[in-house]
Amino acid sequence: MTDQTPEGRTVAHSLVTMSQVVLPTQTGPAGVWAHGGEIIKLMDTAAGLAALRHAHSPVVTLRIEGLDFLRPIRVGNFVTAQARLTYVSRSTMEVQVKVMAEDVLHEKEFEALSSYFLFVAIDDEGTTKTVPPLILETEEEKKLFEQGRLRHDTCRMDEHSRAICAMD
Ligand SMILES: CC(C)(COP(=O)(O)OP(=O)(O)OC[C@H]1O[C@@H](n2cnc3c(N)ncnc32)[C@H](O)[C@@H]1OP(=O)(O)O)[C@@H](O)C(=O)NCCC(=O)NCCS
Repeated sequence: MTDQTPEGRTVAHSLVTMSQVVLPTQTGPAGVWAHGGEIIKLMDTAAGLAALRHAHSPVVTLRIEGLDFLRPIRVGNFVTAQARLTYVSRSTMEVQVKVMAEDVLHEKEFEALSSYFLFVAIDDEGTTKTVPPLILETEEEKKLFEQGRLRHDTCRMDEHSRAICAMD
């Protein structure tokens, strides 16, 4: 465990946006709708990059909370994952990921899904490591941080707390 607390970084410092077009190889058996796992992979990559930018050390995904597929994504849609840190504790970082999908032909964009990804920073030996504090610059960032703190303090894998986890 690394005890020294590094210098804080802002939310803006680690923002990540990643985009891709959904190809036929990324759909389910019907060949029409995006395979959910493909979208989750994009989200995990964007969120992990945001966590890496904040921690400046290797990170691993600990859990995914509140993964709600709000609207289906079609083959050919242009998909964008936006990741931002919402909360940090000693070694964990919570990253909110929102996925927008664009029907390019018809110039229609919609929010397809959102989730919170939790990462833990580790050192080269795989031991958990202290991450920089998150510098909060806006009222929204402060609100999201408090919500993240509540999730961190209450959400575990037991059934009692699961029901209240990851709700906006
Ligand atoms: C992530 C991992 C290193 C944590 O190990 P651990 O022994 O639980 O570590 P710690 O006890 O030091 O806990 C680390 C942090 O995780 C938090 N945590 C542990 N279990 C948790 C859970 N089920 N839910 C939420 N937070 C949890 C702890 O509260 C602690 O947070 P804090 O330091 O910010 O206060 C370990 O579980 C692991 O290696 N998991 C596999 C990760 C992986 O392979 N991911 C996919 C590929 S990247």
